[in-house]
Amino acid sequence: MKTVAFFNNKGGVGKTSLVYHLAWMFADHGVKTLAVDLDPQANLTAMFLDEERLEDLWPDDEHPNTVYGAIRPILRGIGDIASPHVEKINPNLGLIAGDLGLSRFEDKLSDAWPRCQLGDESAFRTMTAFHRLVQRDADFGAELVLIDVGPNLGAINRSALIASDQVCLPLAPDLFSLQGLKNLGPTLREWRSVWSGLLTKAPSGLPMPKGTMQPLGYIVMQHGILDTRPVKAYKRWMDRIPSVYREAVLNERIQSMPVVAEDPYCLSLLKHYRSLMPMAMEARKPIFFLKSADGAIGAHIEAVRSCYQDFQKLAAKIAINADIAFT
Ligand SMILES: Nc1ncnc2c1ncn2[C@@H]1O[C@H](COP(=O)(O)OP(=O)(O)O)[C@@H](O)[C@H]1O
Ligand SMILES: [Mg+2]
Repeated sequence: MKTVAFFNNKGGVGKTSLVYHLAWMFADHGVKTLAVDLDPQANLTAMFLDEERLEDLWPDDEHPNTVYGAIRPILRGIGDIASPHVEKINPNLGLIAGDLGLSRFEDKLSDAWPRCQLGDESAFRTMTAFHRLVQRDADFGAELVLIDVGPNLGAINRSALIASDQVCLPLAPDLFSLQGLKNLGPTLREWRSVWSGLLTKAPSGLPMPKGTMQPLGYIVMQHGILDTRPVKAYKRWMDRIPSVYREAVLNERIQSMPVVAEDPYCLSLLKHYRSLMPMAMEARKPIFFLKSADGAIGAHIEAVRSCYQDFQKLAAKIAINADIAFT
């Protein structure tokens, strides 16, 4: 099983939409894919499920079938994680549903981090709750786990990243995204190095994530670009991405910098799909599965086809890097 997180501390860059579309694409290629919504805003869950189902998952009291329900025994200090409920979207696609209540886990996770230093077993159980949750999905048997997180460098995200073998960084060619990358890169490196130190203090018998969080590359979300923005400004940020990525995330410098389109770390230059995105959300399916009955007519038909190819190419690149068979 491979776990890949999609992470950027800048919100609104299209991260959740990306995880949603990739999950459908991998599943369409026969890869058993589990999407995990670790953003307490639960946008990914709202994309997958209709309101009726959401109401069932989020009643007034306990939420046994969401991620919050699964970690609740830890939060209450009355035991370990419960087996997670996997919402079956189709035979190859499952979802661990998100929950607004997950935000209550933030403080508990903040508190557990320094206590791991003391070798405290309950702190390690808390820190690894997400990792162990994903590992426990015995019935579904995911080959690939895609994790969506919220836009911050908080304790929930630290724990989600520790549970991840690899990380993809979606970003937009603008000042905010590049500033975000400058914060995020060193933070990732710090989490990785502190966790590898903490592992030496871990109690035996508890499955521990390695916390490799290896950067797979970045995805440039072109929808951040307004048509009215001058091409020069766009190009200026675009040209900086390869060097900022190398310095901030990989901590390396090279002499001659490639342009984004030729940068091996650029996994995709993702298009703005315009009205197709709201159409897809309305139909509760990815853009590339829209049909004429959903409103995809005329020029949309070609756009839907090319969207399939865009995501297929991106999924193939991620699969190679994550060592997942994808044909
Ligand atoms: N490639 C795209 N083309 C068109 N609209 C997009 C695209 N990606 C995201 N959006 C829209 O942009 C908004 C933010 O996207 P979202 O995936 O929620 O971002 P994030 O998870 O980074 O906050 C949403 O309204 C979404 O529908
Ligand atoms: Mg999101």
